[in-house]
Amino acid sequence: MKKKFNKKQKKALRILLNHKNGVNELLYGGAAGGGKTWLGCSFALYLCLNYPGIRFLIGRARLSILEQTTLNTLYAVLKDWGLNEGTDYNYNGKSHELKLSNGSIIIMKDLFLYPKDPDFDNLGGLEITASFVDESNQVVEKAITVLKTRHRWMLNYYCGINGCNGETSKSKVLERDENNEPIKWKCHQCGNDTEGFIPKMLLSCNPAKNWVYSKFYKPWTEDKLEAFRQFIQATSNDNTKLTKAYKNVLDQLDHMSRKRLRDGDWDNESADALFKMDKIAVLWGRELPCESETHYIAIDPAGTGGDAAEIIVISGSKVVKEWITIPKAKKPSEIIEVVERLQRKWGVDEYGIAYDVDGLGWGLNDAFEYGYQIFNNGTPIENKVFQNLKAELYFKLSQVIEDEELSISAECQTLEIQEELTREMQVIEEVEIDKDGKRKITPKNVIKQTIGRSPNKADVLAYAMRFFLDESDSSYIILD
Ligand SMILES: Nc1ncnc2c1ncn2[C@@H]1O[C@H](COP(=O)(O)OP(=O)(O)OP(=O)(O)O)[C@@H](O)[C@H]1O
Ligand SMILES: [Mg+2]
Repeated sequence: MKKKFNKKQKKALRILLNHKNGVNELLYGGAAGGGKTWLGCSFALYLCLNYPGIRFLIGRARLSILEQTTLNTLYAVLKDWGLNEGTDYNYNGKSHELKLSNGSIIIMKDLFLYPKDPDFDNLGGLEITASFVDESNQVVEKAITVLKTRHRWMLNYYCGINGCNGETSKSKVLERDENNEPIKWKCHQCGNDTEGFIPKMLLSCNPAKNWVYSKFYKPWTEDKLEAFRQFIQATSNDNTKLTKAYKNVLDQLDHMSRKRLRDGDWDNESADALFKMDKIAVLWGRELPCESETHYIAIDPAGTGGDAAEIIVISGSKVVKEWITIPKAKKPSEIIEVVERLQRKWGVDEYGIAYDVDGLGWGLNDAFEYGYQIFNNGTPIENKVFQNLKAELYFKLSQVIEDEELSISAECQTLEIQEELTREMQVIEEVEIDKDGKRKITPKNVIKQTIGRSPNKADVLAYAMRFFLDESDSSYIILD
């Protein structure tokens, strides 16, 4: 079967299959739909089929998302290459390994930074030959640094020159290291002097202002990339196999997302953005240790139109522990039921609940009479320089994110939450201060026009900030 690749994918494969170029890390992508995942799965399969017995790792921030997305593309590539489940390969959902009939293995791995394993000790016992990290911008840099040290399985077993799979054991060894391992040999198959494989990591990404930006994109634009790194920018225009429907989806994105995901624009950021892209990026791929036993609940009830209601549980150390979306909430009772369950689970009394009283929120008044009722246009609590309470809460959220204090637990880092929250956050700006001198944010109707819906996920995080404002200046008196 002849495998077809677009020009950028071919360029990437040439770099990845060349073991003499000194390139260990290749970042491919910088836009949506450029054929990143297909390339990564093809790289994995090509190596595994050509070099029996090797171990290839496919990683992503969350294993659960990897199995919903990247693994499906791997199945599609297997099918495209004429390989059949049962005879040619088997996937074990418990060990998360795909075993090929020639003995090669593709290991699926979770690369999230969990509070319990800050040094990625769980990667410690791994020995792999090569790897592909999909959406690597959602993984912290440390995961990549540790993973890189795990590339040592069968590196000196095959020749590797121009895809040659001549074995060292059948070749004449020219040089050995202090452990008597061959480091240079004359390949019995192609006749070349070879040093075998060098570690090869393929990383894919969408534009993000974190380590992928500072280590790859920025130096690439300045022609200052380290010799062991390379970057290939590939957009949906480079992917000749993309369906029209997918292209339409990219065309219909809001302006900011279109620039970033369709056009591969890494620097598309407003100077007035309330949440900077580099700080939004810090939210993903890691969870901070929870240092507080206290928990609070924030609720953005649906509007009267029956849109989504968002409910979060946040700890006193600002870790979002649970995030529940009720897609089309129509009655306050639907929300109350969930909140009462969360109260029991996390030990939250009514004083620990904050909710917006607009829309279905009015229906929560009786149930959570002692909770914080947030009137968006209410008076600011701590600092009267804000236009209203909502602006104050948003500025507080912005400060907490700027200081990298907020963290979202691994369970809550779903594709939907990541995509929607990022989209919402990148369009919220501080708008011009007018003659009353009060600080304000983009009005809700403008955000709605831009992204086609309310920023419910950002709103609920902002409401949660109610518990982190200093109340010494509060104009409210709370009666027990
Ligand atoms: N070499 C190829 N041969 C056949 N089909 C391909 C190839 N490359 C890409 N495709 C097609 O293009 C689609 C998009 O590719 P892929 O999923 O790899 O893009 P992506 O950059 O990972 O997208 P996303 O940004 O959504 O993660 C694939 O589902 C597949 O149908
Ligand atoms: Mg992909």
